[in-house]
Amino acid sequence: MQQEMKIGVVTVSDRASRGEYEDLGGPAIQDYLHEVIVSPFQVERRVISDDQSVIEETLIDLCDQQGCSLVVTTGGTGPAKRDVTPEATEAVAEKLMPGFGELMRQVSLEKVPTAILSRQTAGIRNHALIINLPGKPKAIAECLDGVFAAIPYCIDLIDGPYMITNETRFVAFRPKGK
Ligand code: MTE
Repeated sequence: MQQEMKIGVVTVSDRASRGEYEDLGGPAIQDYLHEVIVSPFQVERRVISDDQSVIEETLIDLCDQQGCSLVVTTGGTGPAKRDVTPEATEAVAEKLMPGFGELMRQVSLEKVPTAILSRQTAGIRNHALIINLPGKPKAIAECLDGVFAAIPYCIDLIDGPYMITNETRFVAFRPKGK
């Protein structure tokens, strides 16, 4: 039987974590994942404040204790004082994967001129790929559509379970024979 993948979905928002605002980003990411992934996976959801130490602890727990292969964050990527998700991601990552942020900004700029305000990045910790998305729910598909075809092979390379995508949405790119 195919190994079930664990995917962390982290909403980083002071207001959502205090219950002052409904978390729309986390459910939107979860819906997106169910639409594009057909192999078995289980989601670990978290809603946390914009504190760098809390974000770091959450990412470390999801990557090291929970055994996630992919962790997707939403929020906290902008220029405001409390926006520190990229700093937390870089602090816990063993390797940075700057191409994800570069490509997501590039595709987002075709949709909205303020895409340049997101400092979203990505990195590898343990056997997990961590990817930052902006906080706006509509940014989730706008960004992930640009990079998703490369995610399954990235997870292969860090010894995660084999991800199979819904080929009507994405044909995962894997070099021949893999
Ligand atoms: N990227 C996409 N694809 N769509 C968007 O609507 N919003 C931008 C930018 N990137 C946006 C986007 C805006 S307005 C901001 S301020 C930054 O992401 C940072 O958002 P965050 O602080 O919620 O992460």
